[in-house]
Amino acid sequence: MQIRKNLRNSNFIVFDKRNDLLESAAKYLFKLLKSKRNPVIGLATGNTFEPFYHYISSNYKKFGCSFKNATTFNLDEYVGLSETDMNSYHYYMNAHLFSKIDINPSNTFLPDGSSKDLKTEVLSYEKLICENNGIDLQFLGIGTNGHIGFNEPGTNPASITHVVDLSESTITTNSKYFKNKNMPRRAITMGISTILSSKQIVLIATGNSKRNIINKLISGKITQEVPASFLIDHKNTTIMLDKSAGKDLIG
Ligand code: PGA
Repeated sequence: MQIRKNLRNSNFIVFDKRNDLLESAAKYLFKLLKSKRNPVIGLATGNTFEPFYHYISSNYKKFGCSFKNATTFNLDEYVGLSETDMNSYHYYMNAHLFSKIDINPSNTFLPDGSSKDLKTEVLSYEKLICENNGIDLQFLGIGTNGHIGFNEPGTNPASITHVVDLSESTITTNSKYFKNKNMPRRAITMGISTILSSKQIVLIATGNSKRNIINKLISGKITQEVPASFLIDHKNTTIMLDKSAGKDLIG
């Protein structure tokens, strides 16, 4: 079963079965890998994406795809964490995806959270995305507070890659991953404008904890208080939900 709803330019789809959601989201990626010679993919991290990356790495060969000519840009990274830190998003990406696919590691990019010169780091990350002609397909999760990347409520929609102070709600949600350690209070994130410049966007939200924020998106109100609400007017965005996150769309 699938329920679809269009809201201006964005398209919401609720899937009955988690595997159908993963397969459907993966097809956007597989189609891009097959149709574009040098695809540029925007990647996200978080719980939501673990089963997605597992699905991708287990199935891309079956679908006749290769990542050999692909370039990836991740949305964000914690300030102060190096690539080898188990809590860094670099580490997450290597563990869940990059080590399991045929991508050239030198074509995978994340902001460098361990940089001693964050001002230069954010500008060079944004510049690198532009030099690669922008992102063809950006995957996004959503925070329970509506953040995309680490663009917390109140972020200017014109923002490009920048350093953010994480909100209390994000710190509360994510601190469980930092066993016995204080989690960083700052991160580098692509800005809302960087994200909206992507040619195509696929947002995935699963679980009951996302139900409230999805209802705010469905209300159609575009506001800085819900950063993901700016996606509603993006020219090609699909929001994929499981039946818990999309419960109120099922009726
Ligand atoms: P989650 O994170 O997938 O762990 O819920 C999503 C996000 O904060 O963007």
